[in-house]
Amino acid sequence: MVEVLRQRLNGCEPTIALILGSGLGDIAEAIEDASVIPFEDIPAFPRATVRGHAGRFVCGTLNASTVIALQGRLHLYEGHNPEMAGMPVRLMHELGARMLLVSNAAGGIRRTLVPGDFMLIRDHINLMWRSPLAGPAKDAESRFPDMSEPYDLDLSRRMRLAALKAGIPLAEGVYAGLLGPAYETPAEVRMLERLGADAVGMSTVPEVIVARALGMRVAGVSCITNVAAGMSGIPLNHAEVLETTERVRHRFIALVRAFLGSLKSDP
Ligand code: HPA
Repeated sequence: MVEVLRQRLNGCEPTIALILGSGLGDIAEAIEDASVIPFEDIPAFPRATVRGHAGRFVCGTLNASTVIALQGRLHLYEGHNPEMAGMPVRLMHELGARMLLVSNAAGGIRRTLVPGDFMLIRDHINLMWRSPLAGPAKDAESRFPDMSEPYDLDLSRRMRLAALKAGIPLAEGVYAGLLGPAYETPAEVRMLERLGADAVGMSTVPEVIVARALGMRVAGVSCITNVAAGMSGIPLNHAEVLETTERVRHRFIALVRAFLGSLKSDP
């Protein structure tokens, strides 16, 4: 599979992989000298089924970094097993990426978070109760990866600096990853709040676990697209999620650009 990717992406050798969450895929359009491969052109690769996810890999240059972007991820709620949800990270690592910037759309639990805010992911809680590492150990991966620093401290510092430079407020907090696809009940949101979660979503955790098992350095950003269920009295829907990401996508692009810039310029 990786050979097909390498060929179609013109020998792409990325330093950093970007996973673009629901409605946040537009940044891939800013990639220069882009080579693109849609999921359907990759043998045995699943299709993207969720609105707001294009379903392709894009490799090229963004702010002087060679990046590979996953425009449309594989969620467990689509019926993929956890290994499959982590598989794109394994592919991007095989192509050479040693850093991962993961993004997602999430519901805000902490009361100070409002739709349109960005939240640097400081840590996560795996409430999917599954691991993409379960099964035979893979040669390149740690069998028992340490998860005491899932989100790299230096990359997180760079993200904070990038936000400051770009004039984009950046909250910080803990992301709870749930299986979905139903949104949470108000009681579940109250439980998550007590567990220490600041935001909730249905992705990211399997990808970060695989990345850590491979020794990749990870930074994560959630786009708060809605207030979590039961906290505002407003019913949730995917259209609202996409409306919010559409409203703030320019800020997200500016944040990612500034972050990539800091990888090149700042010590
Ligand atoms: N819950 C779970 N996943 C989400 C949410 C939410 O409120 N918003 C966007 N993705």
